[in-house]
Amino acid sequence: MTLAPVLSRYWDQPNSWTLDSYLRRDGYQALRKALATPPDAVIETVKDAGLRGRGGAGFPTGLKWSFIPQVSEDKPGDGKPHYLVVNADESEPGTCKDMPLMMATPHTLVEGVIIAAYAIRAAKAFIYVRGEVVPVLRRLQTAVAEAYAAGYLGRNVLGSGFDLDLVVHAGAGAYICGEETALLDSLEGRRGQPRLRPPFPAVAGLYACPTVVNNVESIASVPSIVLGGPEWFRSMGSEKSPGFTLYSLSGHVTTPGQYEAELGITLRELLEYAGGVRAGHTLKFWTPGGSSTPIFTDEHLDVPLDYEGVGAAGSMLGTKALQIFDETTCIVRAVLRWTEFYAHESCGKCTPCREGTYWLVQILRRLEGGTGTEADLTKLLDISDTILGKSFCALGDGATSPIMSSLKYFREEYVAHFDGNGCPFDPHRSVLAT
Ligand code: NAI
Ligand code: SF4
Repeated sequence: MTLAPVLSRYWDQPNSWTLDSYLRRDGYQALRKALATPPDAVIETVKDAGLRGRGGAGFPTGLKWSFIPQVSEDKPGDGKPHYLVVNADESEPGTCKDMPLMMATPHTLVEGVIIAAYAIRAAKAFIYVRGEVVPVLRRLQTAVAEAYAAGYLGRNVLGSGFDLDLVVHAGAGAYICGEETALLDSLEGRRGQPRLRPPFPAVAGLYACPTVVNNVESIASVPSIVLGGPEWFRSMGSEKSPGFTLYSLSGHVTTPGQYEAELGITLRELLEYAGGVRAGHTLKFWTPGGSSTPIFTDEHLDVPLDYEGVGAAGSMLGTKALQIFDETTCIVRAVLRWTEFYAHESCGKCTPCREGTYWLVQILRRLEGGTGTEADLTKLLDISDTILGKSFCALGDGATSPIMSSLKYFREEYVAHFDGNGCPFDPHRSVLAT
């Protein structure tokens, strides 16, 4: 498969983030087209295209929109407002696709927001963005101000009778606020912790009203689908995973960065574009979708990176954050680092995750330091089993993925830490042993 730059096509153009630049390349033409059709027709277009959520879970976007109660002259609805919330709280380790998108072409996202809000009949939309990434925040705020001034936002958008207000909201840097219901709590001014689902946000979301929560990349893909049509979108990818997407390559790779390609491309193919694993080294392990997905090894180089392909190989596609590690990496150290992250970010609401991630870190630290035992490996699996499927949200499950998969592929390397002279990758190992 080849690269398919759609969202990233203009990222290297001068001032690609300005309204002028966006208008020179079909900017807001999709909005004009959408406003000329009924909202339900826009939902049908996105459904027909088969766009799946790009935040990680791959839920069909058009289907999600269709859960919002339909309102028409003969179906007046229950009078509750509808909301659109864009999840721009990108935080999964290794994931760095939404931030560059918002920096380079924020109007693609703003246009997608207006079309999506029109489709679900929302008069208010929010972009919830990580507060620490101030340049992204500023760039979005500037784009939104430009869109208001040009009549794309506010009252009577482009004379259509549709009103929309768009608020850019800064989060405070908690990983858990990327979980959609914790995000909604945070947006309402509360401490961000996940809510019980169901009800899903489409039924009771922001202020208990019907709410669509979509990832940045999902919403930014909508203008191209409206302009190009479902057939064009479906001409890329596979039947169940159609279209293009952004893959983030990081770590021990010659040219790290964003690579936009048809869904289903393999890591072997992507590495050819990225110049391969760094010179003189070989691939040891990698993540298909951030650290919340099980690790893969060189056995998986030809796995199609779409929902079905990765699923058949025992993982989830997740955020498509491909973190590459070569043979110089200590697996125990890498897993410890990720687990420390989950323990730090655990919101504390449920016991398996709050307590379990703490104990996983203690055991991994012991193993990495060379004082672990065989019994510690069993304990790691026991605790992971107690967290997996018994936690309140996906964070707990995600924390177990690197541990269980690394023990599957690299158990002997764990053992080498307490069977030999400590970490085999520690350059001071022989010194410590004497
Ligand atoms: P999920 O599968 O529970 O839900 C996905 C979406 O579909 C949600 O918006 C949910 O409301 C909707 N949905 C599911 N079933 C529904 C139903 N019956 N009716 C109405 N709506 C329904 O997945 P979840 O927990 O929302 O997300 C987990 C994913 O998030 C993981 O795959 C992980 O890769 C990803 N993730 C992404 C991060 C990032 O930085 N982008 C950070 C951490 C995790
Ligand atoms: Fe909070 Fe972790 Fe429980 Fe999720 S799994 S609710 S992050 S304690």
